[in-house]
Amino acid sequence: MRGRICGTGSYIPEHYYDNNDLAKFVETNDEWIRERTGIVRRHIAEEDTTVSMAIKAAKNALTDAKLNADDLDLILVSTITPNTVIPSTACEVQKELGAVNATCFDISAACSGFVYAYNTAQAYIAAGMYQNILVIGSETLSGIVNWKDRGSCILFGDGAGAAVICAEEGEIFPAVTHSDGAKGQVLACESRQQKNWQDKENEKQTYVSMDGQAVFKFAVKKVPEVIGELLQKADLTEKDIDLFVLHQANLRIIESVAKRMKTDLAKFPVNIEEYGNTSSASITILLDELNKTGRFHKGQKIVLCGFGAGLTWGATLIEW
Ligand code: UT7
Repeated sequence: MRGRICGTGSYIPEHYYDNNDLAKFVETNDEWIRERTGIVRRHIAEEDTTVSMAIKAAKNALTDAKLNADDLDLILVSTITPNTVIPSTACEVQKELGAVNATCFDISAACSGFVYAYNTAQAYIAAGMYQNILVIGSETLSGIVNWKDRGSCILFGDGAGAAVICAEEGEIFPAVTHSDGAKGQVLACESRQQKNWQDKENEKQTYVSMDGQAVFKFAVKKVPEVIGELLQKADLTEKDIDLFVLHQANLRIIESVAKRMKTDLAKFPVNIEEYGNTSSASITILLDELNKTGRFHKGQKIVLCGFGAGLTWGATLIEW
């Protein structure tokens, strides 16, 4: 058995900061941010939370999949910004949806989170344990970003995306994932006490700290490598792939990956301009946009690739 995406959904909070808004609190400007990152706006959850956004994205995905909440056997939420330590975000989503037959847990793998969660869902389906799985990526990064650090705060935004994965006959598609905990400090956030922002003593622990150049170098090296490994495992070449849906971290990372892979940039859809980097939500928000705008066609081969804190990275092959 293997899983197929049979519905997608997303939710983005309405309020946003554009680059000129950020220039009011940190020394930066629209031109620098656009040139170095491709980002123009990032949406910010004011009333919403990681849980409420996950629920809204999940409802959209269930409608698209034409399934009821009680058809779900498993709910997996990838997040690094849960509302609470316990209960998990997945259990909170279950409660609101009334998905009484689902087993629920969260996955923490930062910007690789959607790919890791998707692969987990595929493995459960291949093992015959579950049939209908809801995979969500939801993040409120605005709560852990240091809004005084111009080197990182310009990048991140809030949002959620979801995909329903349904079992079908057939062999599981290949996936490749890696982790390197020894390099974890280049992108870290030591404490989850998001309510401590005003506490200057704890500032360093409660905010994201990032060595931007180290993360950039990691991404431009490891992303083409892991996609290469995946294609070799699948006995395919770049030419056989219709779209490469990458984590939206920085437009320059995506351009550099396309160049290193000698592949047309048009095969790498982007929406980073509007949302910035939404960590584990970015791939699934983009999947939903591509699905709802008719960019996917039956039988297309698509590679998903996530990379980020941990360090973690991975790629997986899907067929639409
Ligand atoms: O999901 C994974 C999450 N993380 C990432 O993907 C991060 C990957 N890294 C990046 O995207 C880039 O490294 C950044 C966008 C974070 C930074 O871009 P960069 O081209 O690597 O810039 P830099 O850090 O080398 O800084 C160049 C200059 C520095 O000034 P000096 O020393 O040359 O005078 C910085 O102080 O740009 C300055 N700078 C800024 N200037 C205006 C850094 N941030 C800003 C800013 N506005 N926001």
